[in-house]
Amino acid sequence: SDTTYKQPLRPQYHFSPRTNWINDPNGLVYYDAEYHLFFQYNPFGIRWGHMTWGHAISRDLVHWQELPPAIPEEASTMIFSGSCVVDKNNTSGFGRDGRVPMVAIYTGAQKDHQSQHIAYSLDKGRTWTKYDANPVVDLKKRDFRDPKVFWHEPTQKWVMVVLLPTEKKALFYNSPDLKKWTKTGEFTASDSPATIWECPDLVEVPVDGTTERKWLLLLSMGSNGAAGGSGMQYYIGRFDGTTFINESKLGAPRFVDWGKDYYAAISFNNLPSRGNRGAVSIGWMNNWQYANDIPTTPFRGAMTLPRELRLAKKAGGYELRQKPIQELKPLLGVPFQWNGTDVVQLNQSVTNANVSGDTYMLTMELDATKPGSGVRVRKRGDSSGKTTAQSGEETVIGYDPAKAQVYVDRTRSGQVSFKEEFSGRFVAPLQPQNGRISLQIWVDRSSVEVFANEGQATLTNQIFPSPDSRGIEFFGEGLLSVVIRPVEPIWK
Ligand code: FRU
Repeated sequence: SDTTYKQPLRPQYHFSPRTNWINDPNGLVYYDAEYHLFFQYNPFGIRWGHMTWGHAISRDLVHWQELPPAIPEEASTMIFSGSCVVDKNNTSGFGRDGRVPMVAIYTGAQKDHQSQHIAYSLDKGRTWTKYDANPVVDLKKRDFRDPKVFWHEPTQKWVMVVLLPTEKKALFYNSPDLKKWTKTGEFTASDSPATIWECPDLVEVPVDGTTERKWLLLLSMGSNGAAGGSGMQYYIGRFDGTTFINESKLGAPRFVDWGKDYYAAISFNNLPSRGNRGAVSIGWMNNWQYANDIPTTPFRGAMTLPRELRLAKKAGGYELRQKPIQELKPLLGVPFQWNGTDVVQLNQSVTNANVSGDTYMLTMELDATKPGSGVRVRKRGDSSGKTTAQSGEETVIGYDPAKAQVYVDRTRSGQVSFKEEFSGRFVAPLQPQNGRISLQIWVDRSSVEVFANEGQATLTNQIFPSPDSRGIEFFGEGLLSVVIRPVEPIWK
């Protein structure tokens, strides 16, 4: 039988490569009934190196099929992060015989020089031809990377956002044909605690309960993320096709995710329009502090669940809202359901119904006025709370009313000591809604993603428990209701 996706720490419903190293998602694009996920890939090893665009496709954004690598490194040029567009009007002239070109825009990285390159495919991303006049944007810089390119309908132009990472500057360019680029603007922000910026995204998203749409500028932070190490922050504003005008108050950074493992997320280009749907983005579920050391084999690195991004209008402005895409719903199995306030009785029914595992979605509602409540997942030993010689492994998710924080504690989650920075307890500020906190928790074999209060705050974290740590145990006085549904694996 095929054991490719059967290892104890292999994500069962998140994308990971069959073998070898991956980092950032690249070139997320929909074309002709296929979603494409390209990614930073080392075809030769399980550590970072030989950057090549790996490739996977999906028909539903949920089940992925890994294809052979798409764009290989050359002798002296690695293929760094970037994006992909569908050139429907053949503005690039790469199309032939009526075939629509897919065009990839990426950073060609040489030893002391990074510039922007393009390549095209006429067979739905399977084979690629590098443009013979590369680079298309070159500032003769050592650090200049991660172009996000999309079609700007109002001005009928291609737009590129690309970074001077060490200067923490986003540059904006326009092009009629993806080949000739003209600089149109710049954005920098004095309040960013990051030391460098990487992988920008610029996307227009709907505002809940209005007909309004605003632009989101998302930036990956090489350091000083919410939980330490790499992370992401965002700004909200306007974009007129030439430059981003920030409208968010400067001051404290607005973090995209409060866990340790959410980086380099970008959104899909060319998504089929469906009502007032938000942007859909995928991140790399990792942190540069320890990415090369995580204890998985024969692969290293995984993607987060795809998320829908929207905004909510608040008294002081706008806030990001994120939730897992609705396409994931068919993976959910028969629910275990409980309502009440007696946590002893809840744990008893969990035990009686034999509810445990390493792949499920758990939702719970808490009374935020009661002392700290929550759940221990991937817990070793039985859920009655009895202490055994083997007990002690657990990942704790809960709410602390005194501090108004939701937290994920992975200090005893399993393997934690492969790198000093891995272990920890991570928090997100969260105000109750009508006195309540609702947590949606996605547990997979090596991760826990928490979406709090309808996506007001999210925490994404990897964990590496032993395979037999499968228990679920609730604690605290504030539990009101619980639903646990198994999640079906996406791999055949
Ligand atoms: C972000 C990053 C990008 C770069 C790529 C190289 O994780 O450092 O800035 O393009 O990874 O693999």
